[in-house]
Amino acid sequence: MYTADFPRVPVTVPGLRRMKVEGIRIAMLTAYDASFAACMDAVGVDIVLVGDSLGMVVQGHSSTLPVTVEHMVYHCAAVARGLQRALLLADLPFQSYATPSRALKSASQLLAQGGAAMVKLEGAGPVLESIRFLTARDIPVCAHLGLTPQSVHKLGGYRVQGREAAVAAQLRADAEAVVAAGADLLVLECVPRAIAAELASKLPVPVIGIGAGASCDGQVLVMHDVLGVTAGKRPRFVRDFLTGNGSVSDAFAAYVQAVRDGSFPTLVHGFE
Ligand code: KIV
Repeated sequence: MYTADFPRVPVTVPGLRRMKVEGIRIAMLTAYDASFAACMDAVGVDIVLVGDSLGMVVQGHSSTLPVTVEHMVYHCAAVARGLQRALLLADLPFQSYATPSRALKSASQLLAQGGAAMVKLEGAGPVLESIRFLTARDIPVCAHLGLTPQSVHKLGGYRVQGREAAVAAQLRADAEAVVAAGADLLVLECVPRAIAAELASKLPVPVIGIGAGASCDGQVLVMHDVLGVTAGKRPRFVRDFLTGNGSVSDAFAAYVQAVRDGSFPTLVHGFE
């Protein structure tokens, strides 16, 4: 079995910035319960995300929209019990951050009752006000741009974002704006690898990619995809790490290793 060689000190928000500066790629995975979270923690996953993808992979919905703050707090608290080292990041669900005061209430529940250290929210524009409001109150924020699943109806489906010049220009402007508003981390989902590479080199905060190429400061995948239990059609940015690795723990360890050494993602996992 692969044994991860990594410092056992807890991962912190400033620690993530240090990893970026030192060129250590950040490995992030989603989890929804204590057992899988503990498995990830033991092999060196740096950030465990309680994603609102739980609406799809755990609850069986066709989108993330039905997920509530109460669902997120429940799963977050379970995941927190499994972690010793990894930073716990929690999604703010659909419309739970539509105004700054709603964002503060939702984020406070995730930090105080769920044990999260940081919250993730989707978009820029009107959402910038909520990012400013939270970060001014010392609640760390991860922004999520590109394919933002909570906007599935507006986007018309789950597809690559930023191929057209106008959308790419907006993406660049939004990325600068969320960082200026105080975001400490940025997730880019399904964007052309050249844009992701440009933003990762330009922005001071770590950029975590999913379907955004190998030049990001780190990678994230949904746990079910890493374990080869993707429901329906498997997205091209996904790799099944269980096949050939024998156990769940070895699959997570292989994922961490592949992110760290840059062997995942390859060109086939990204977009032009
Ligand atoms: O909800 C989620 O799991 C996510 C990841 C896909 C980044 O937002």
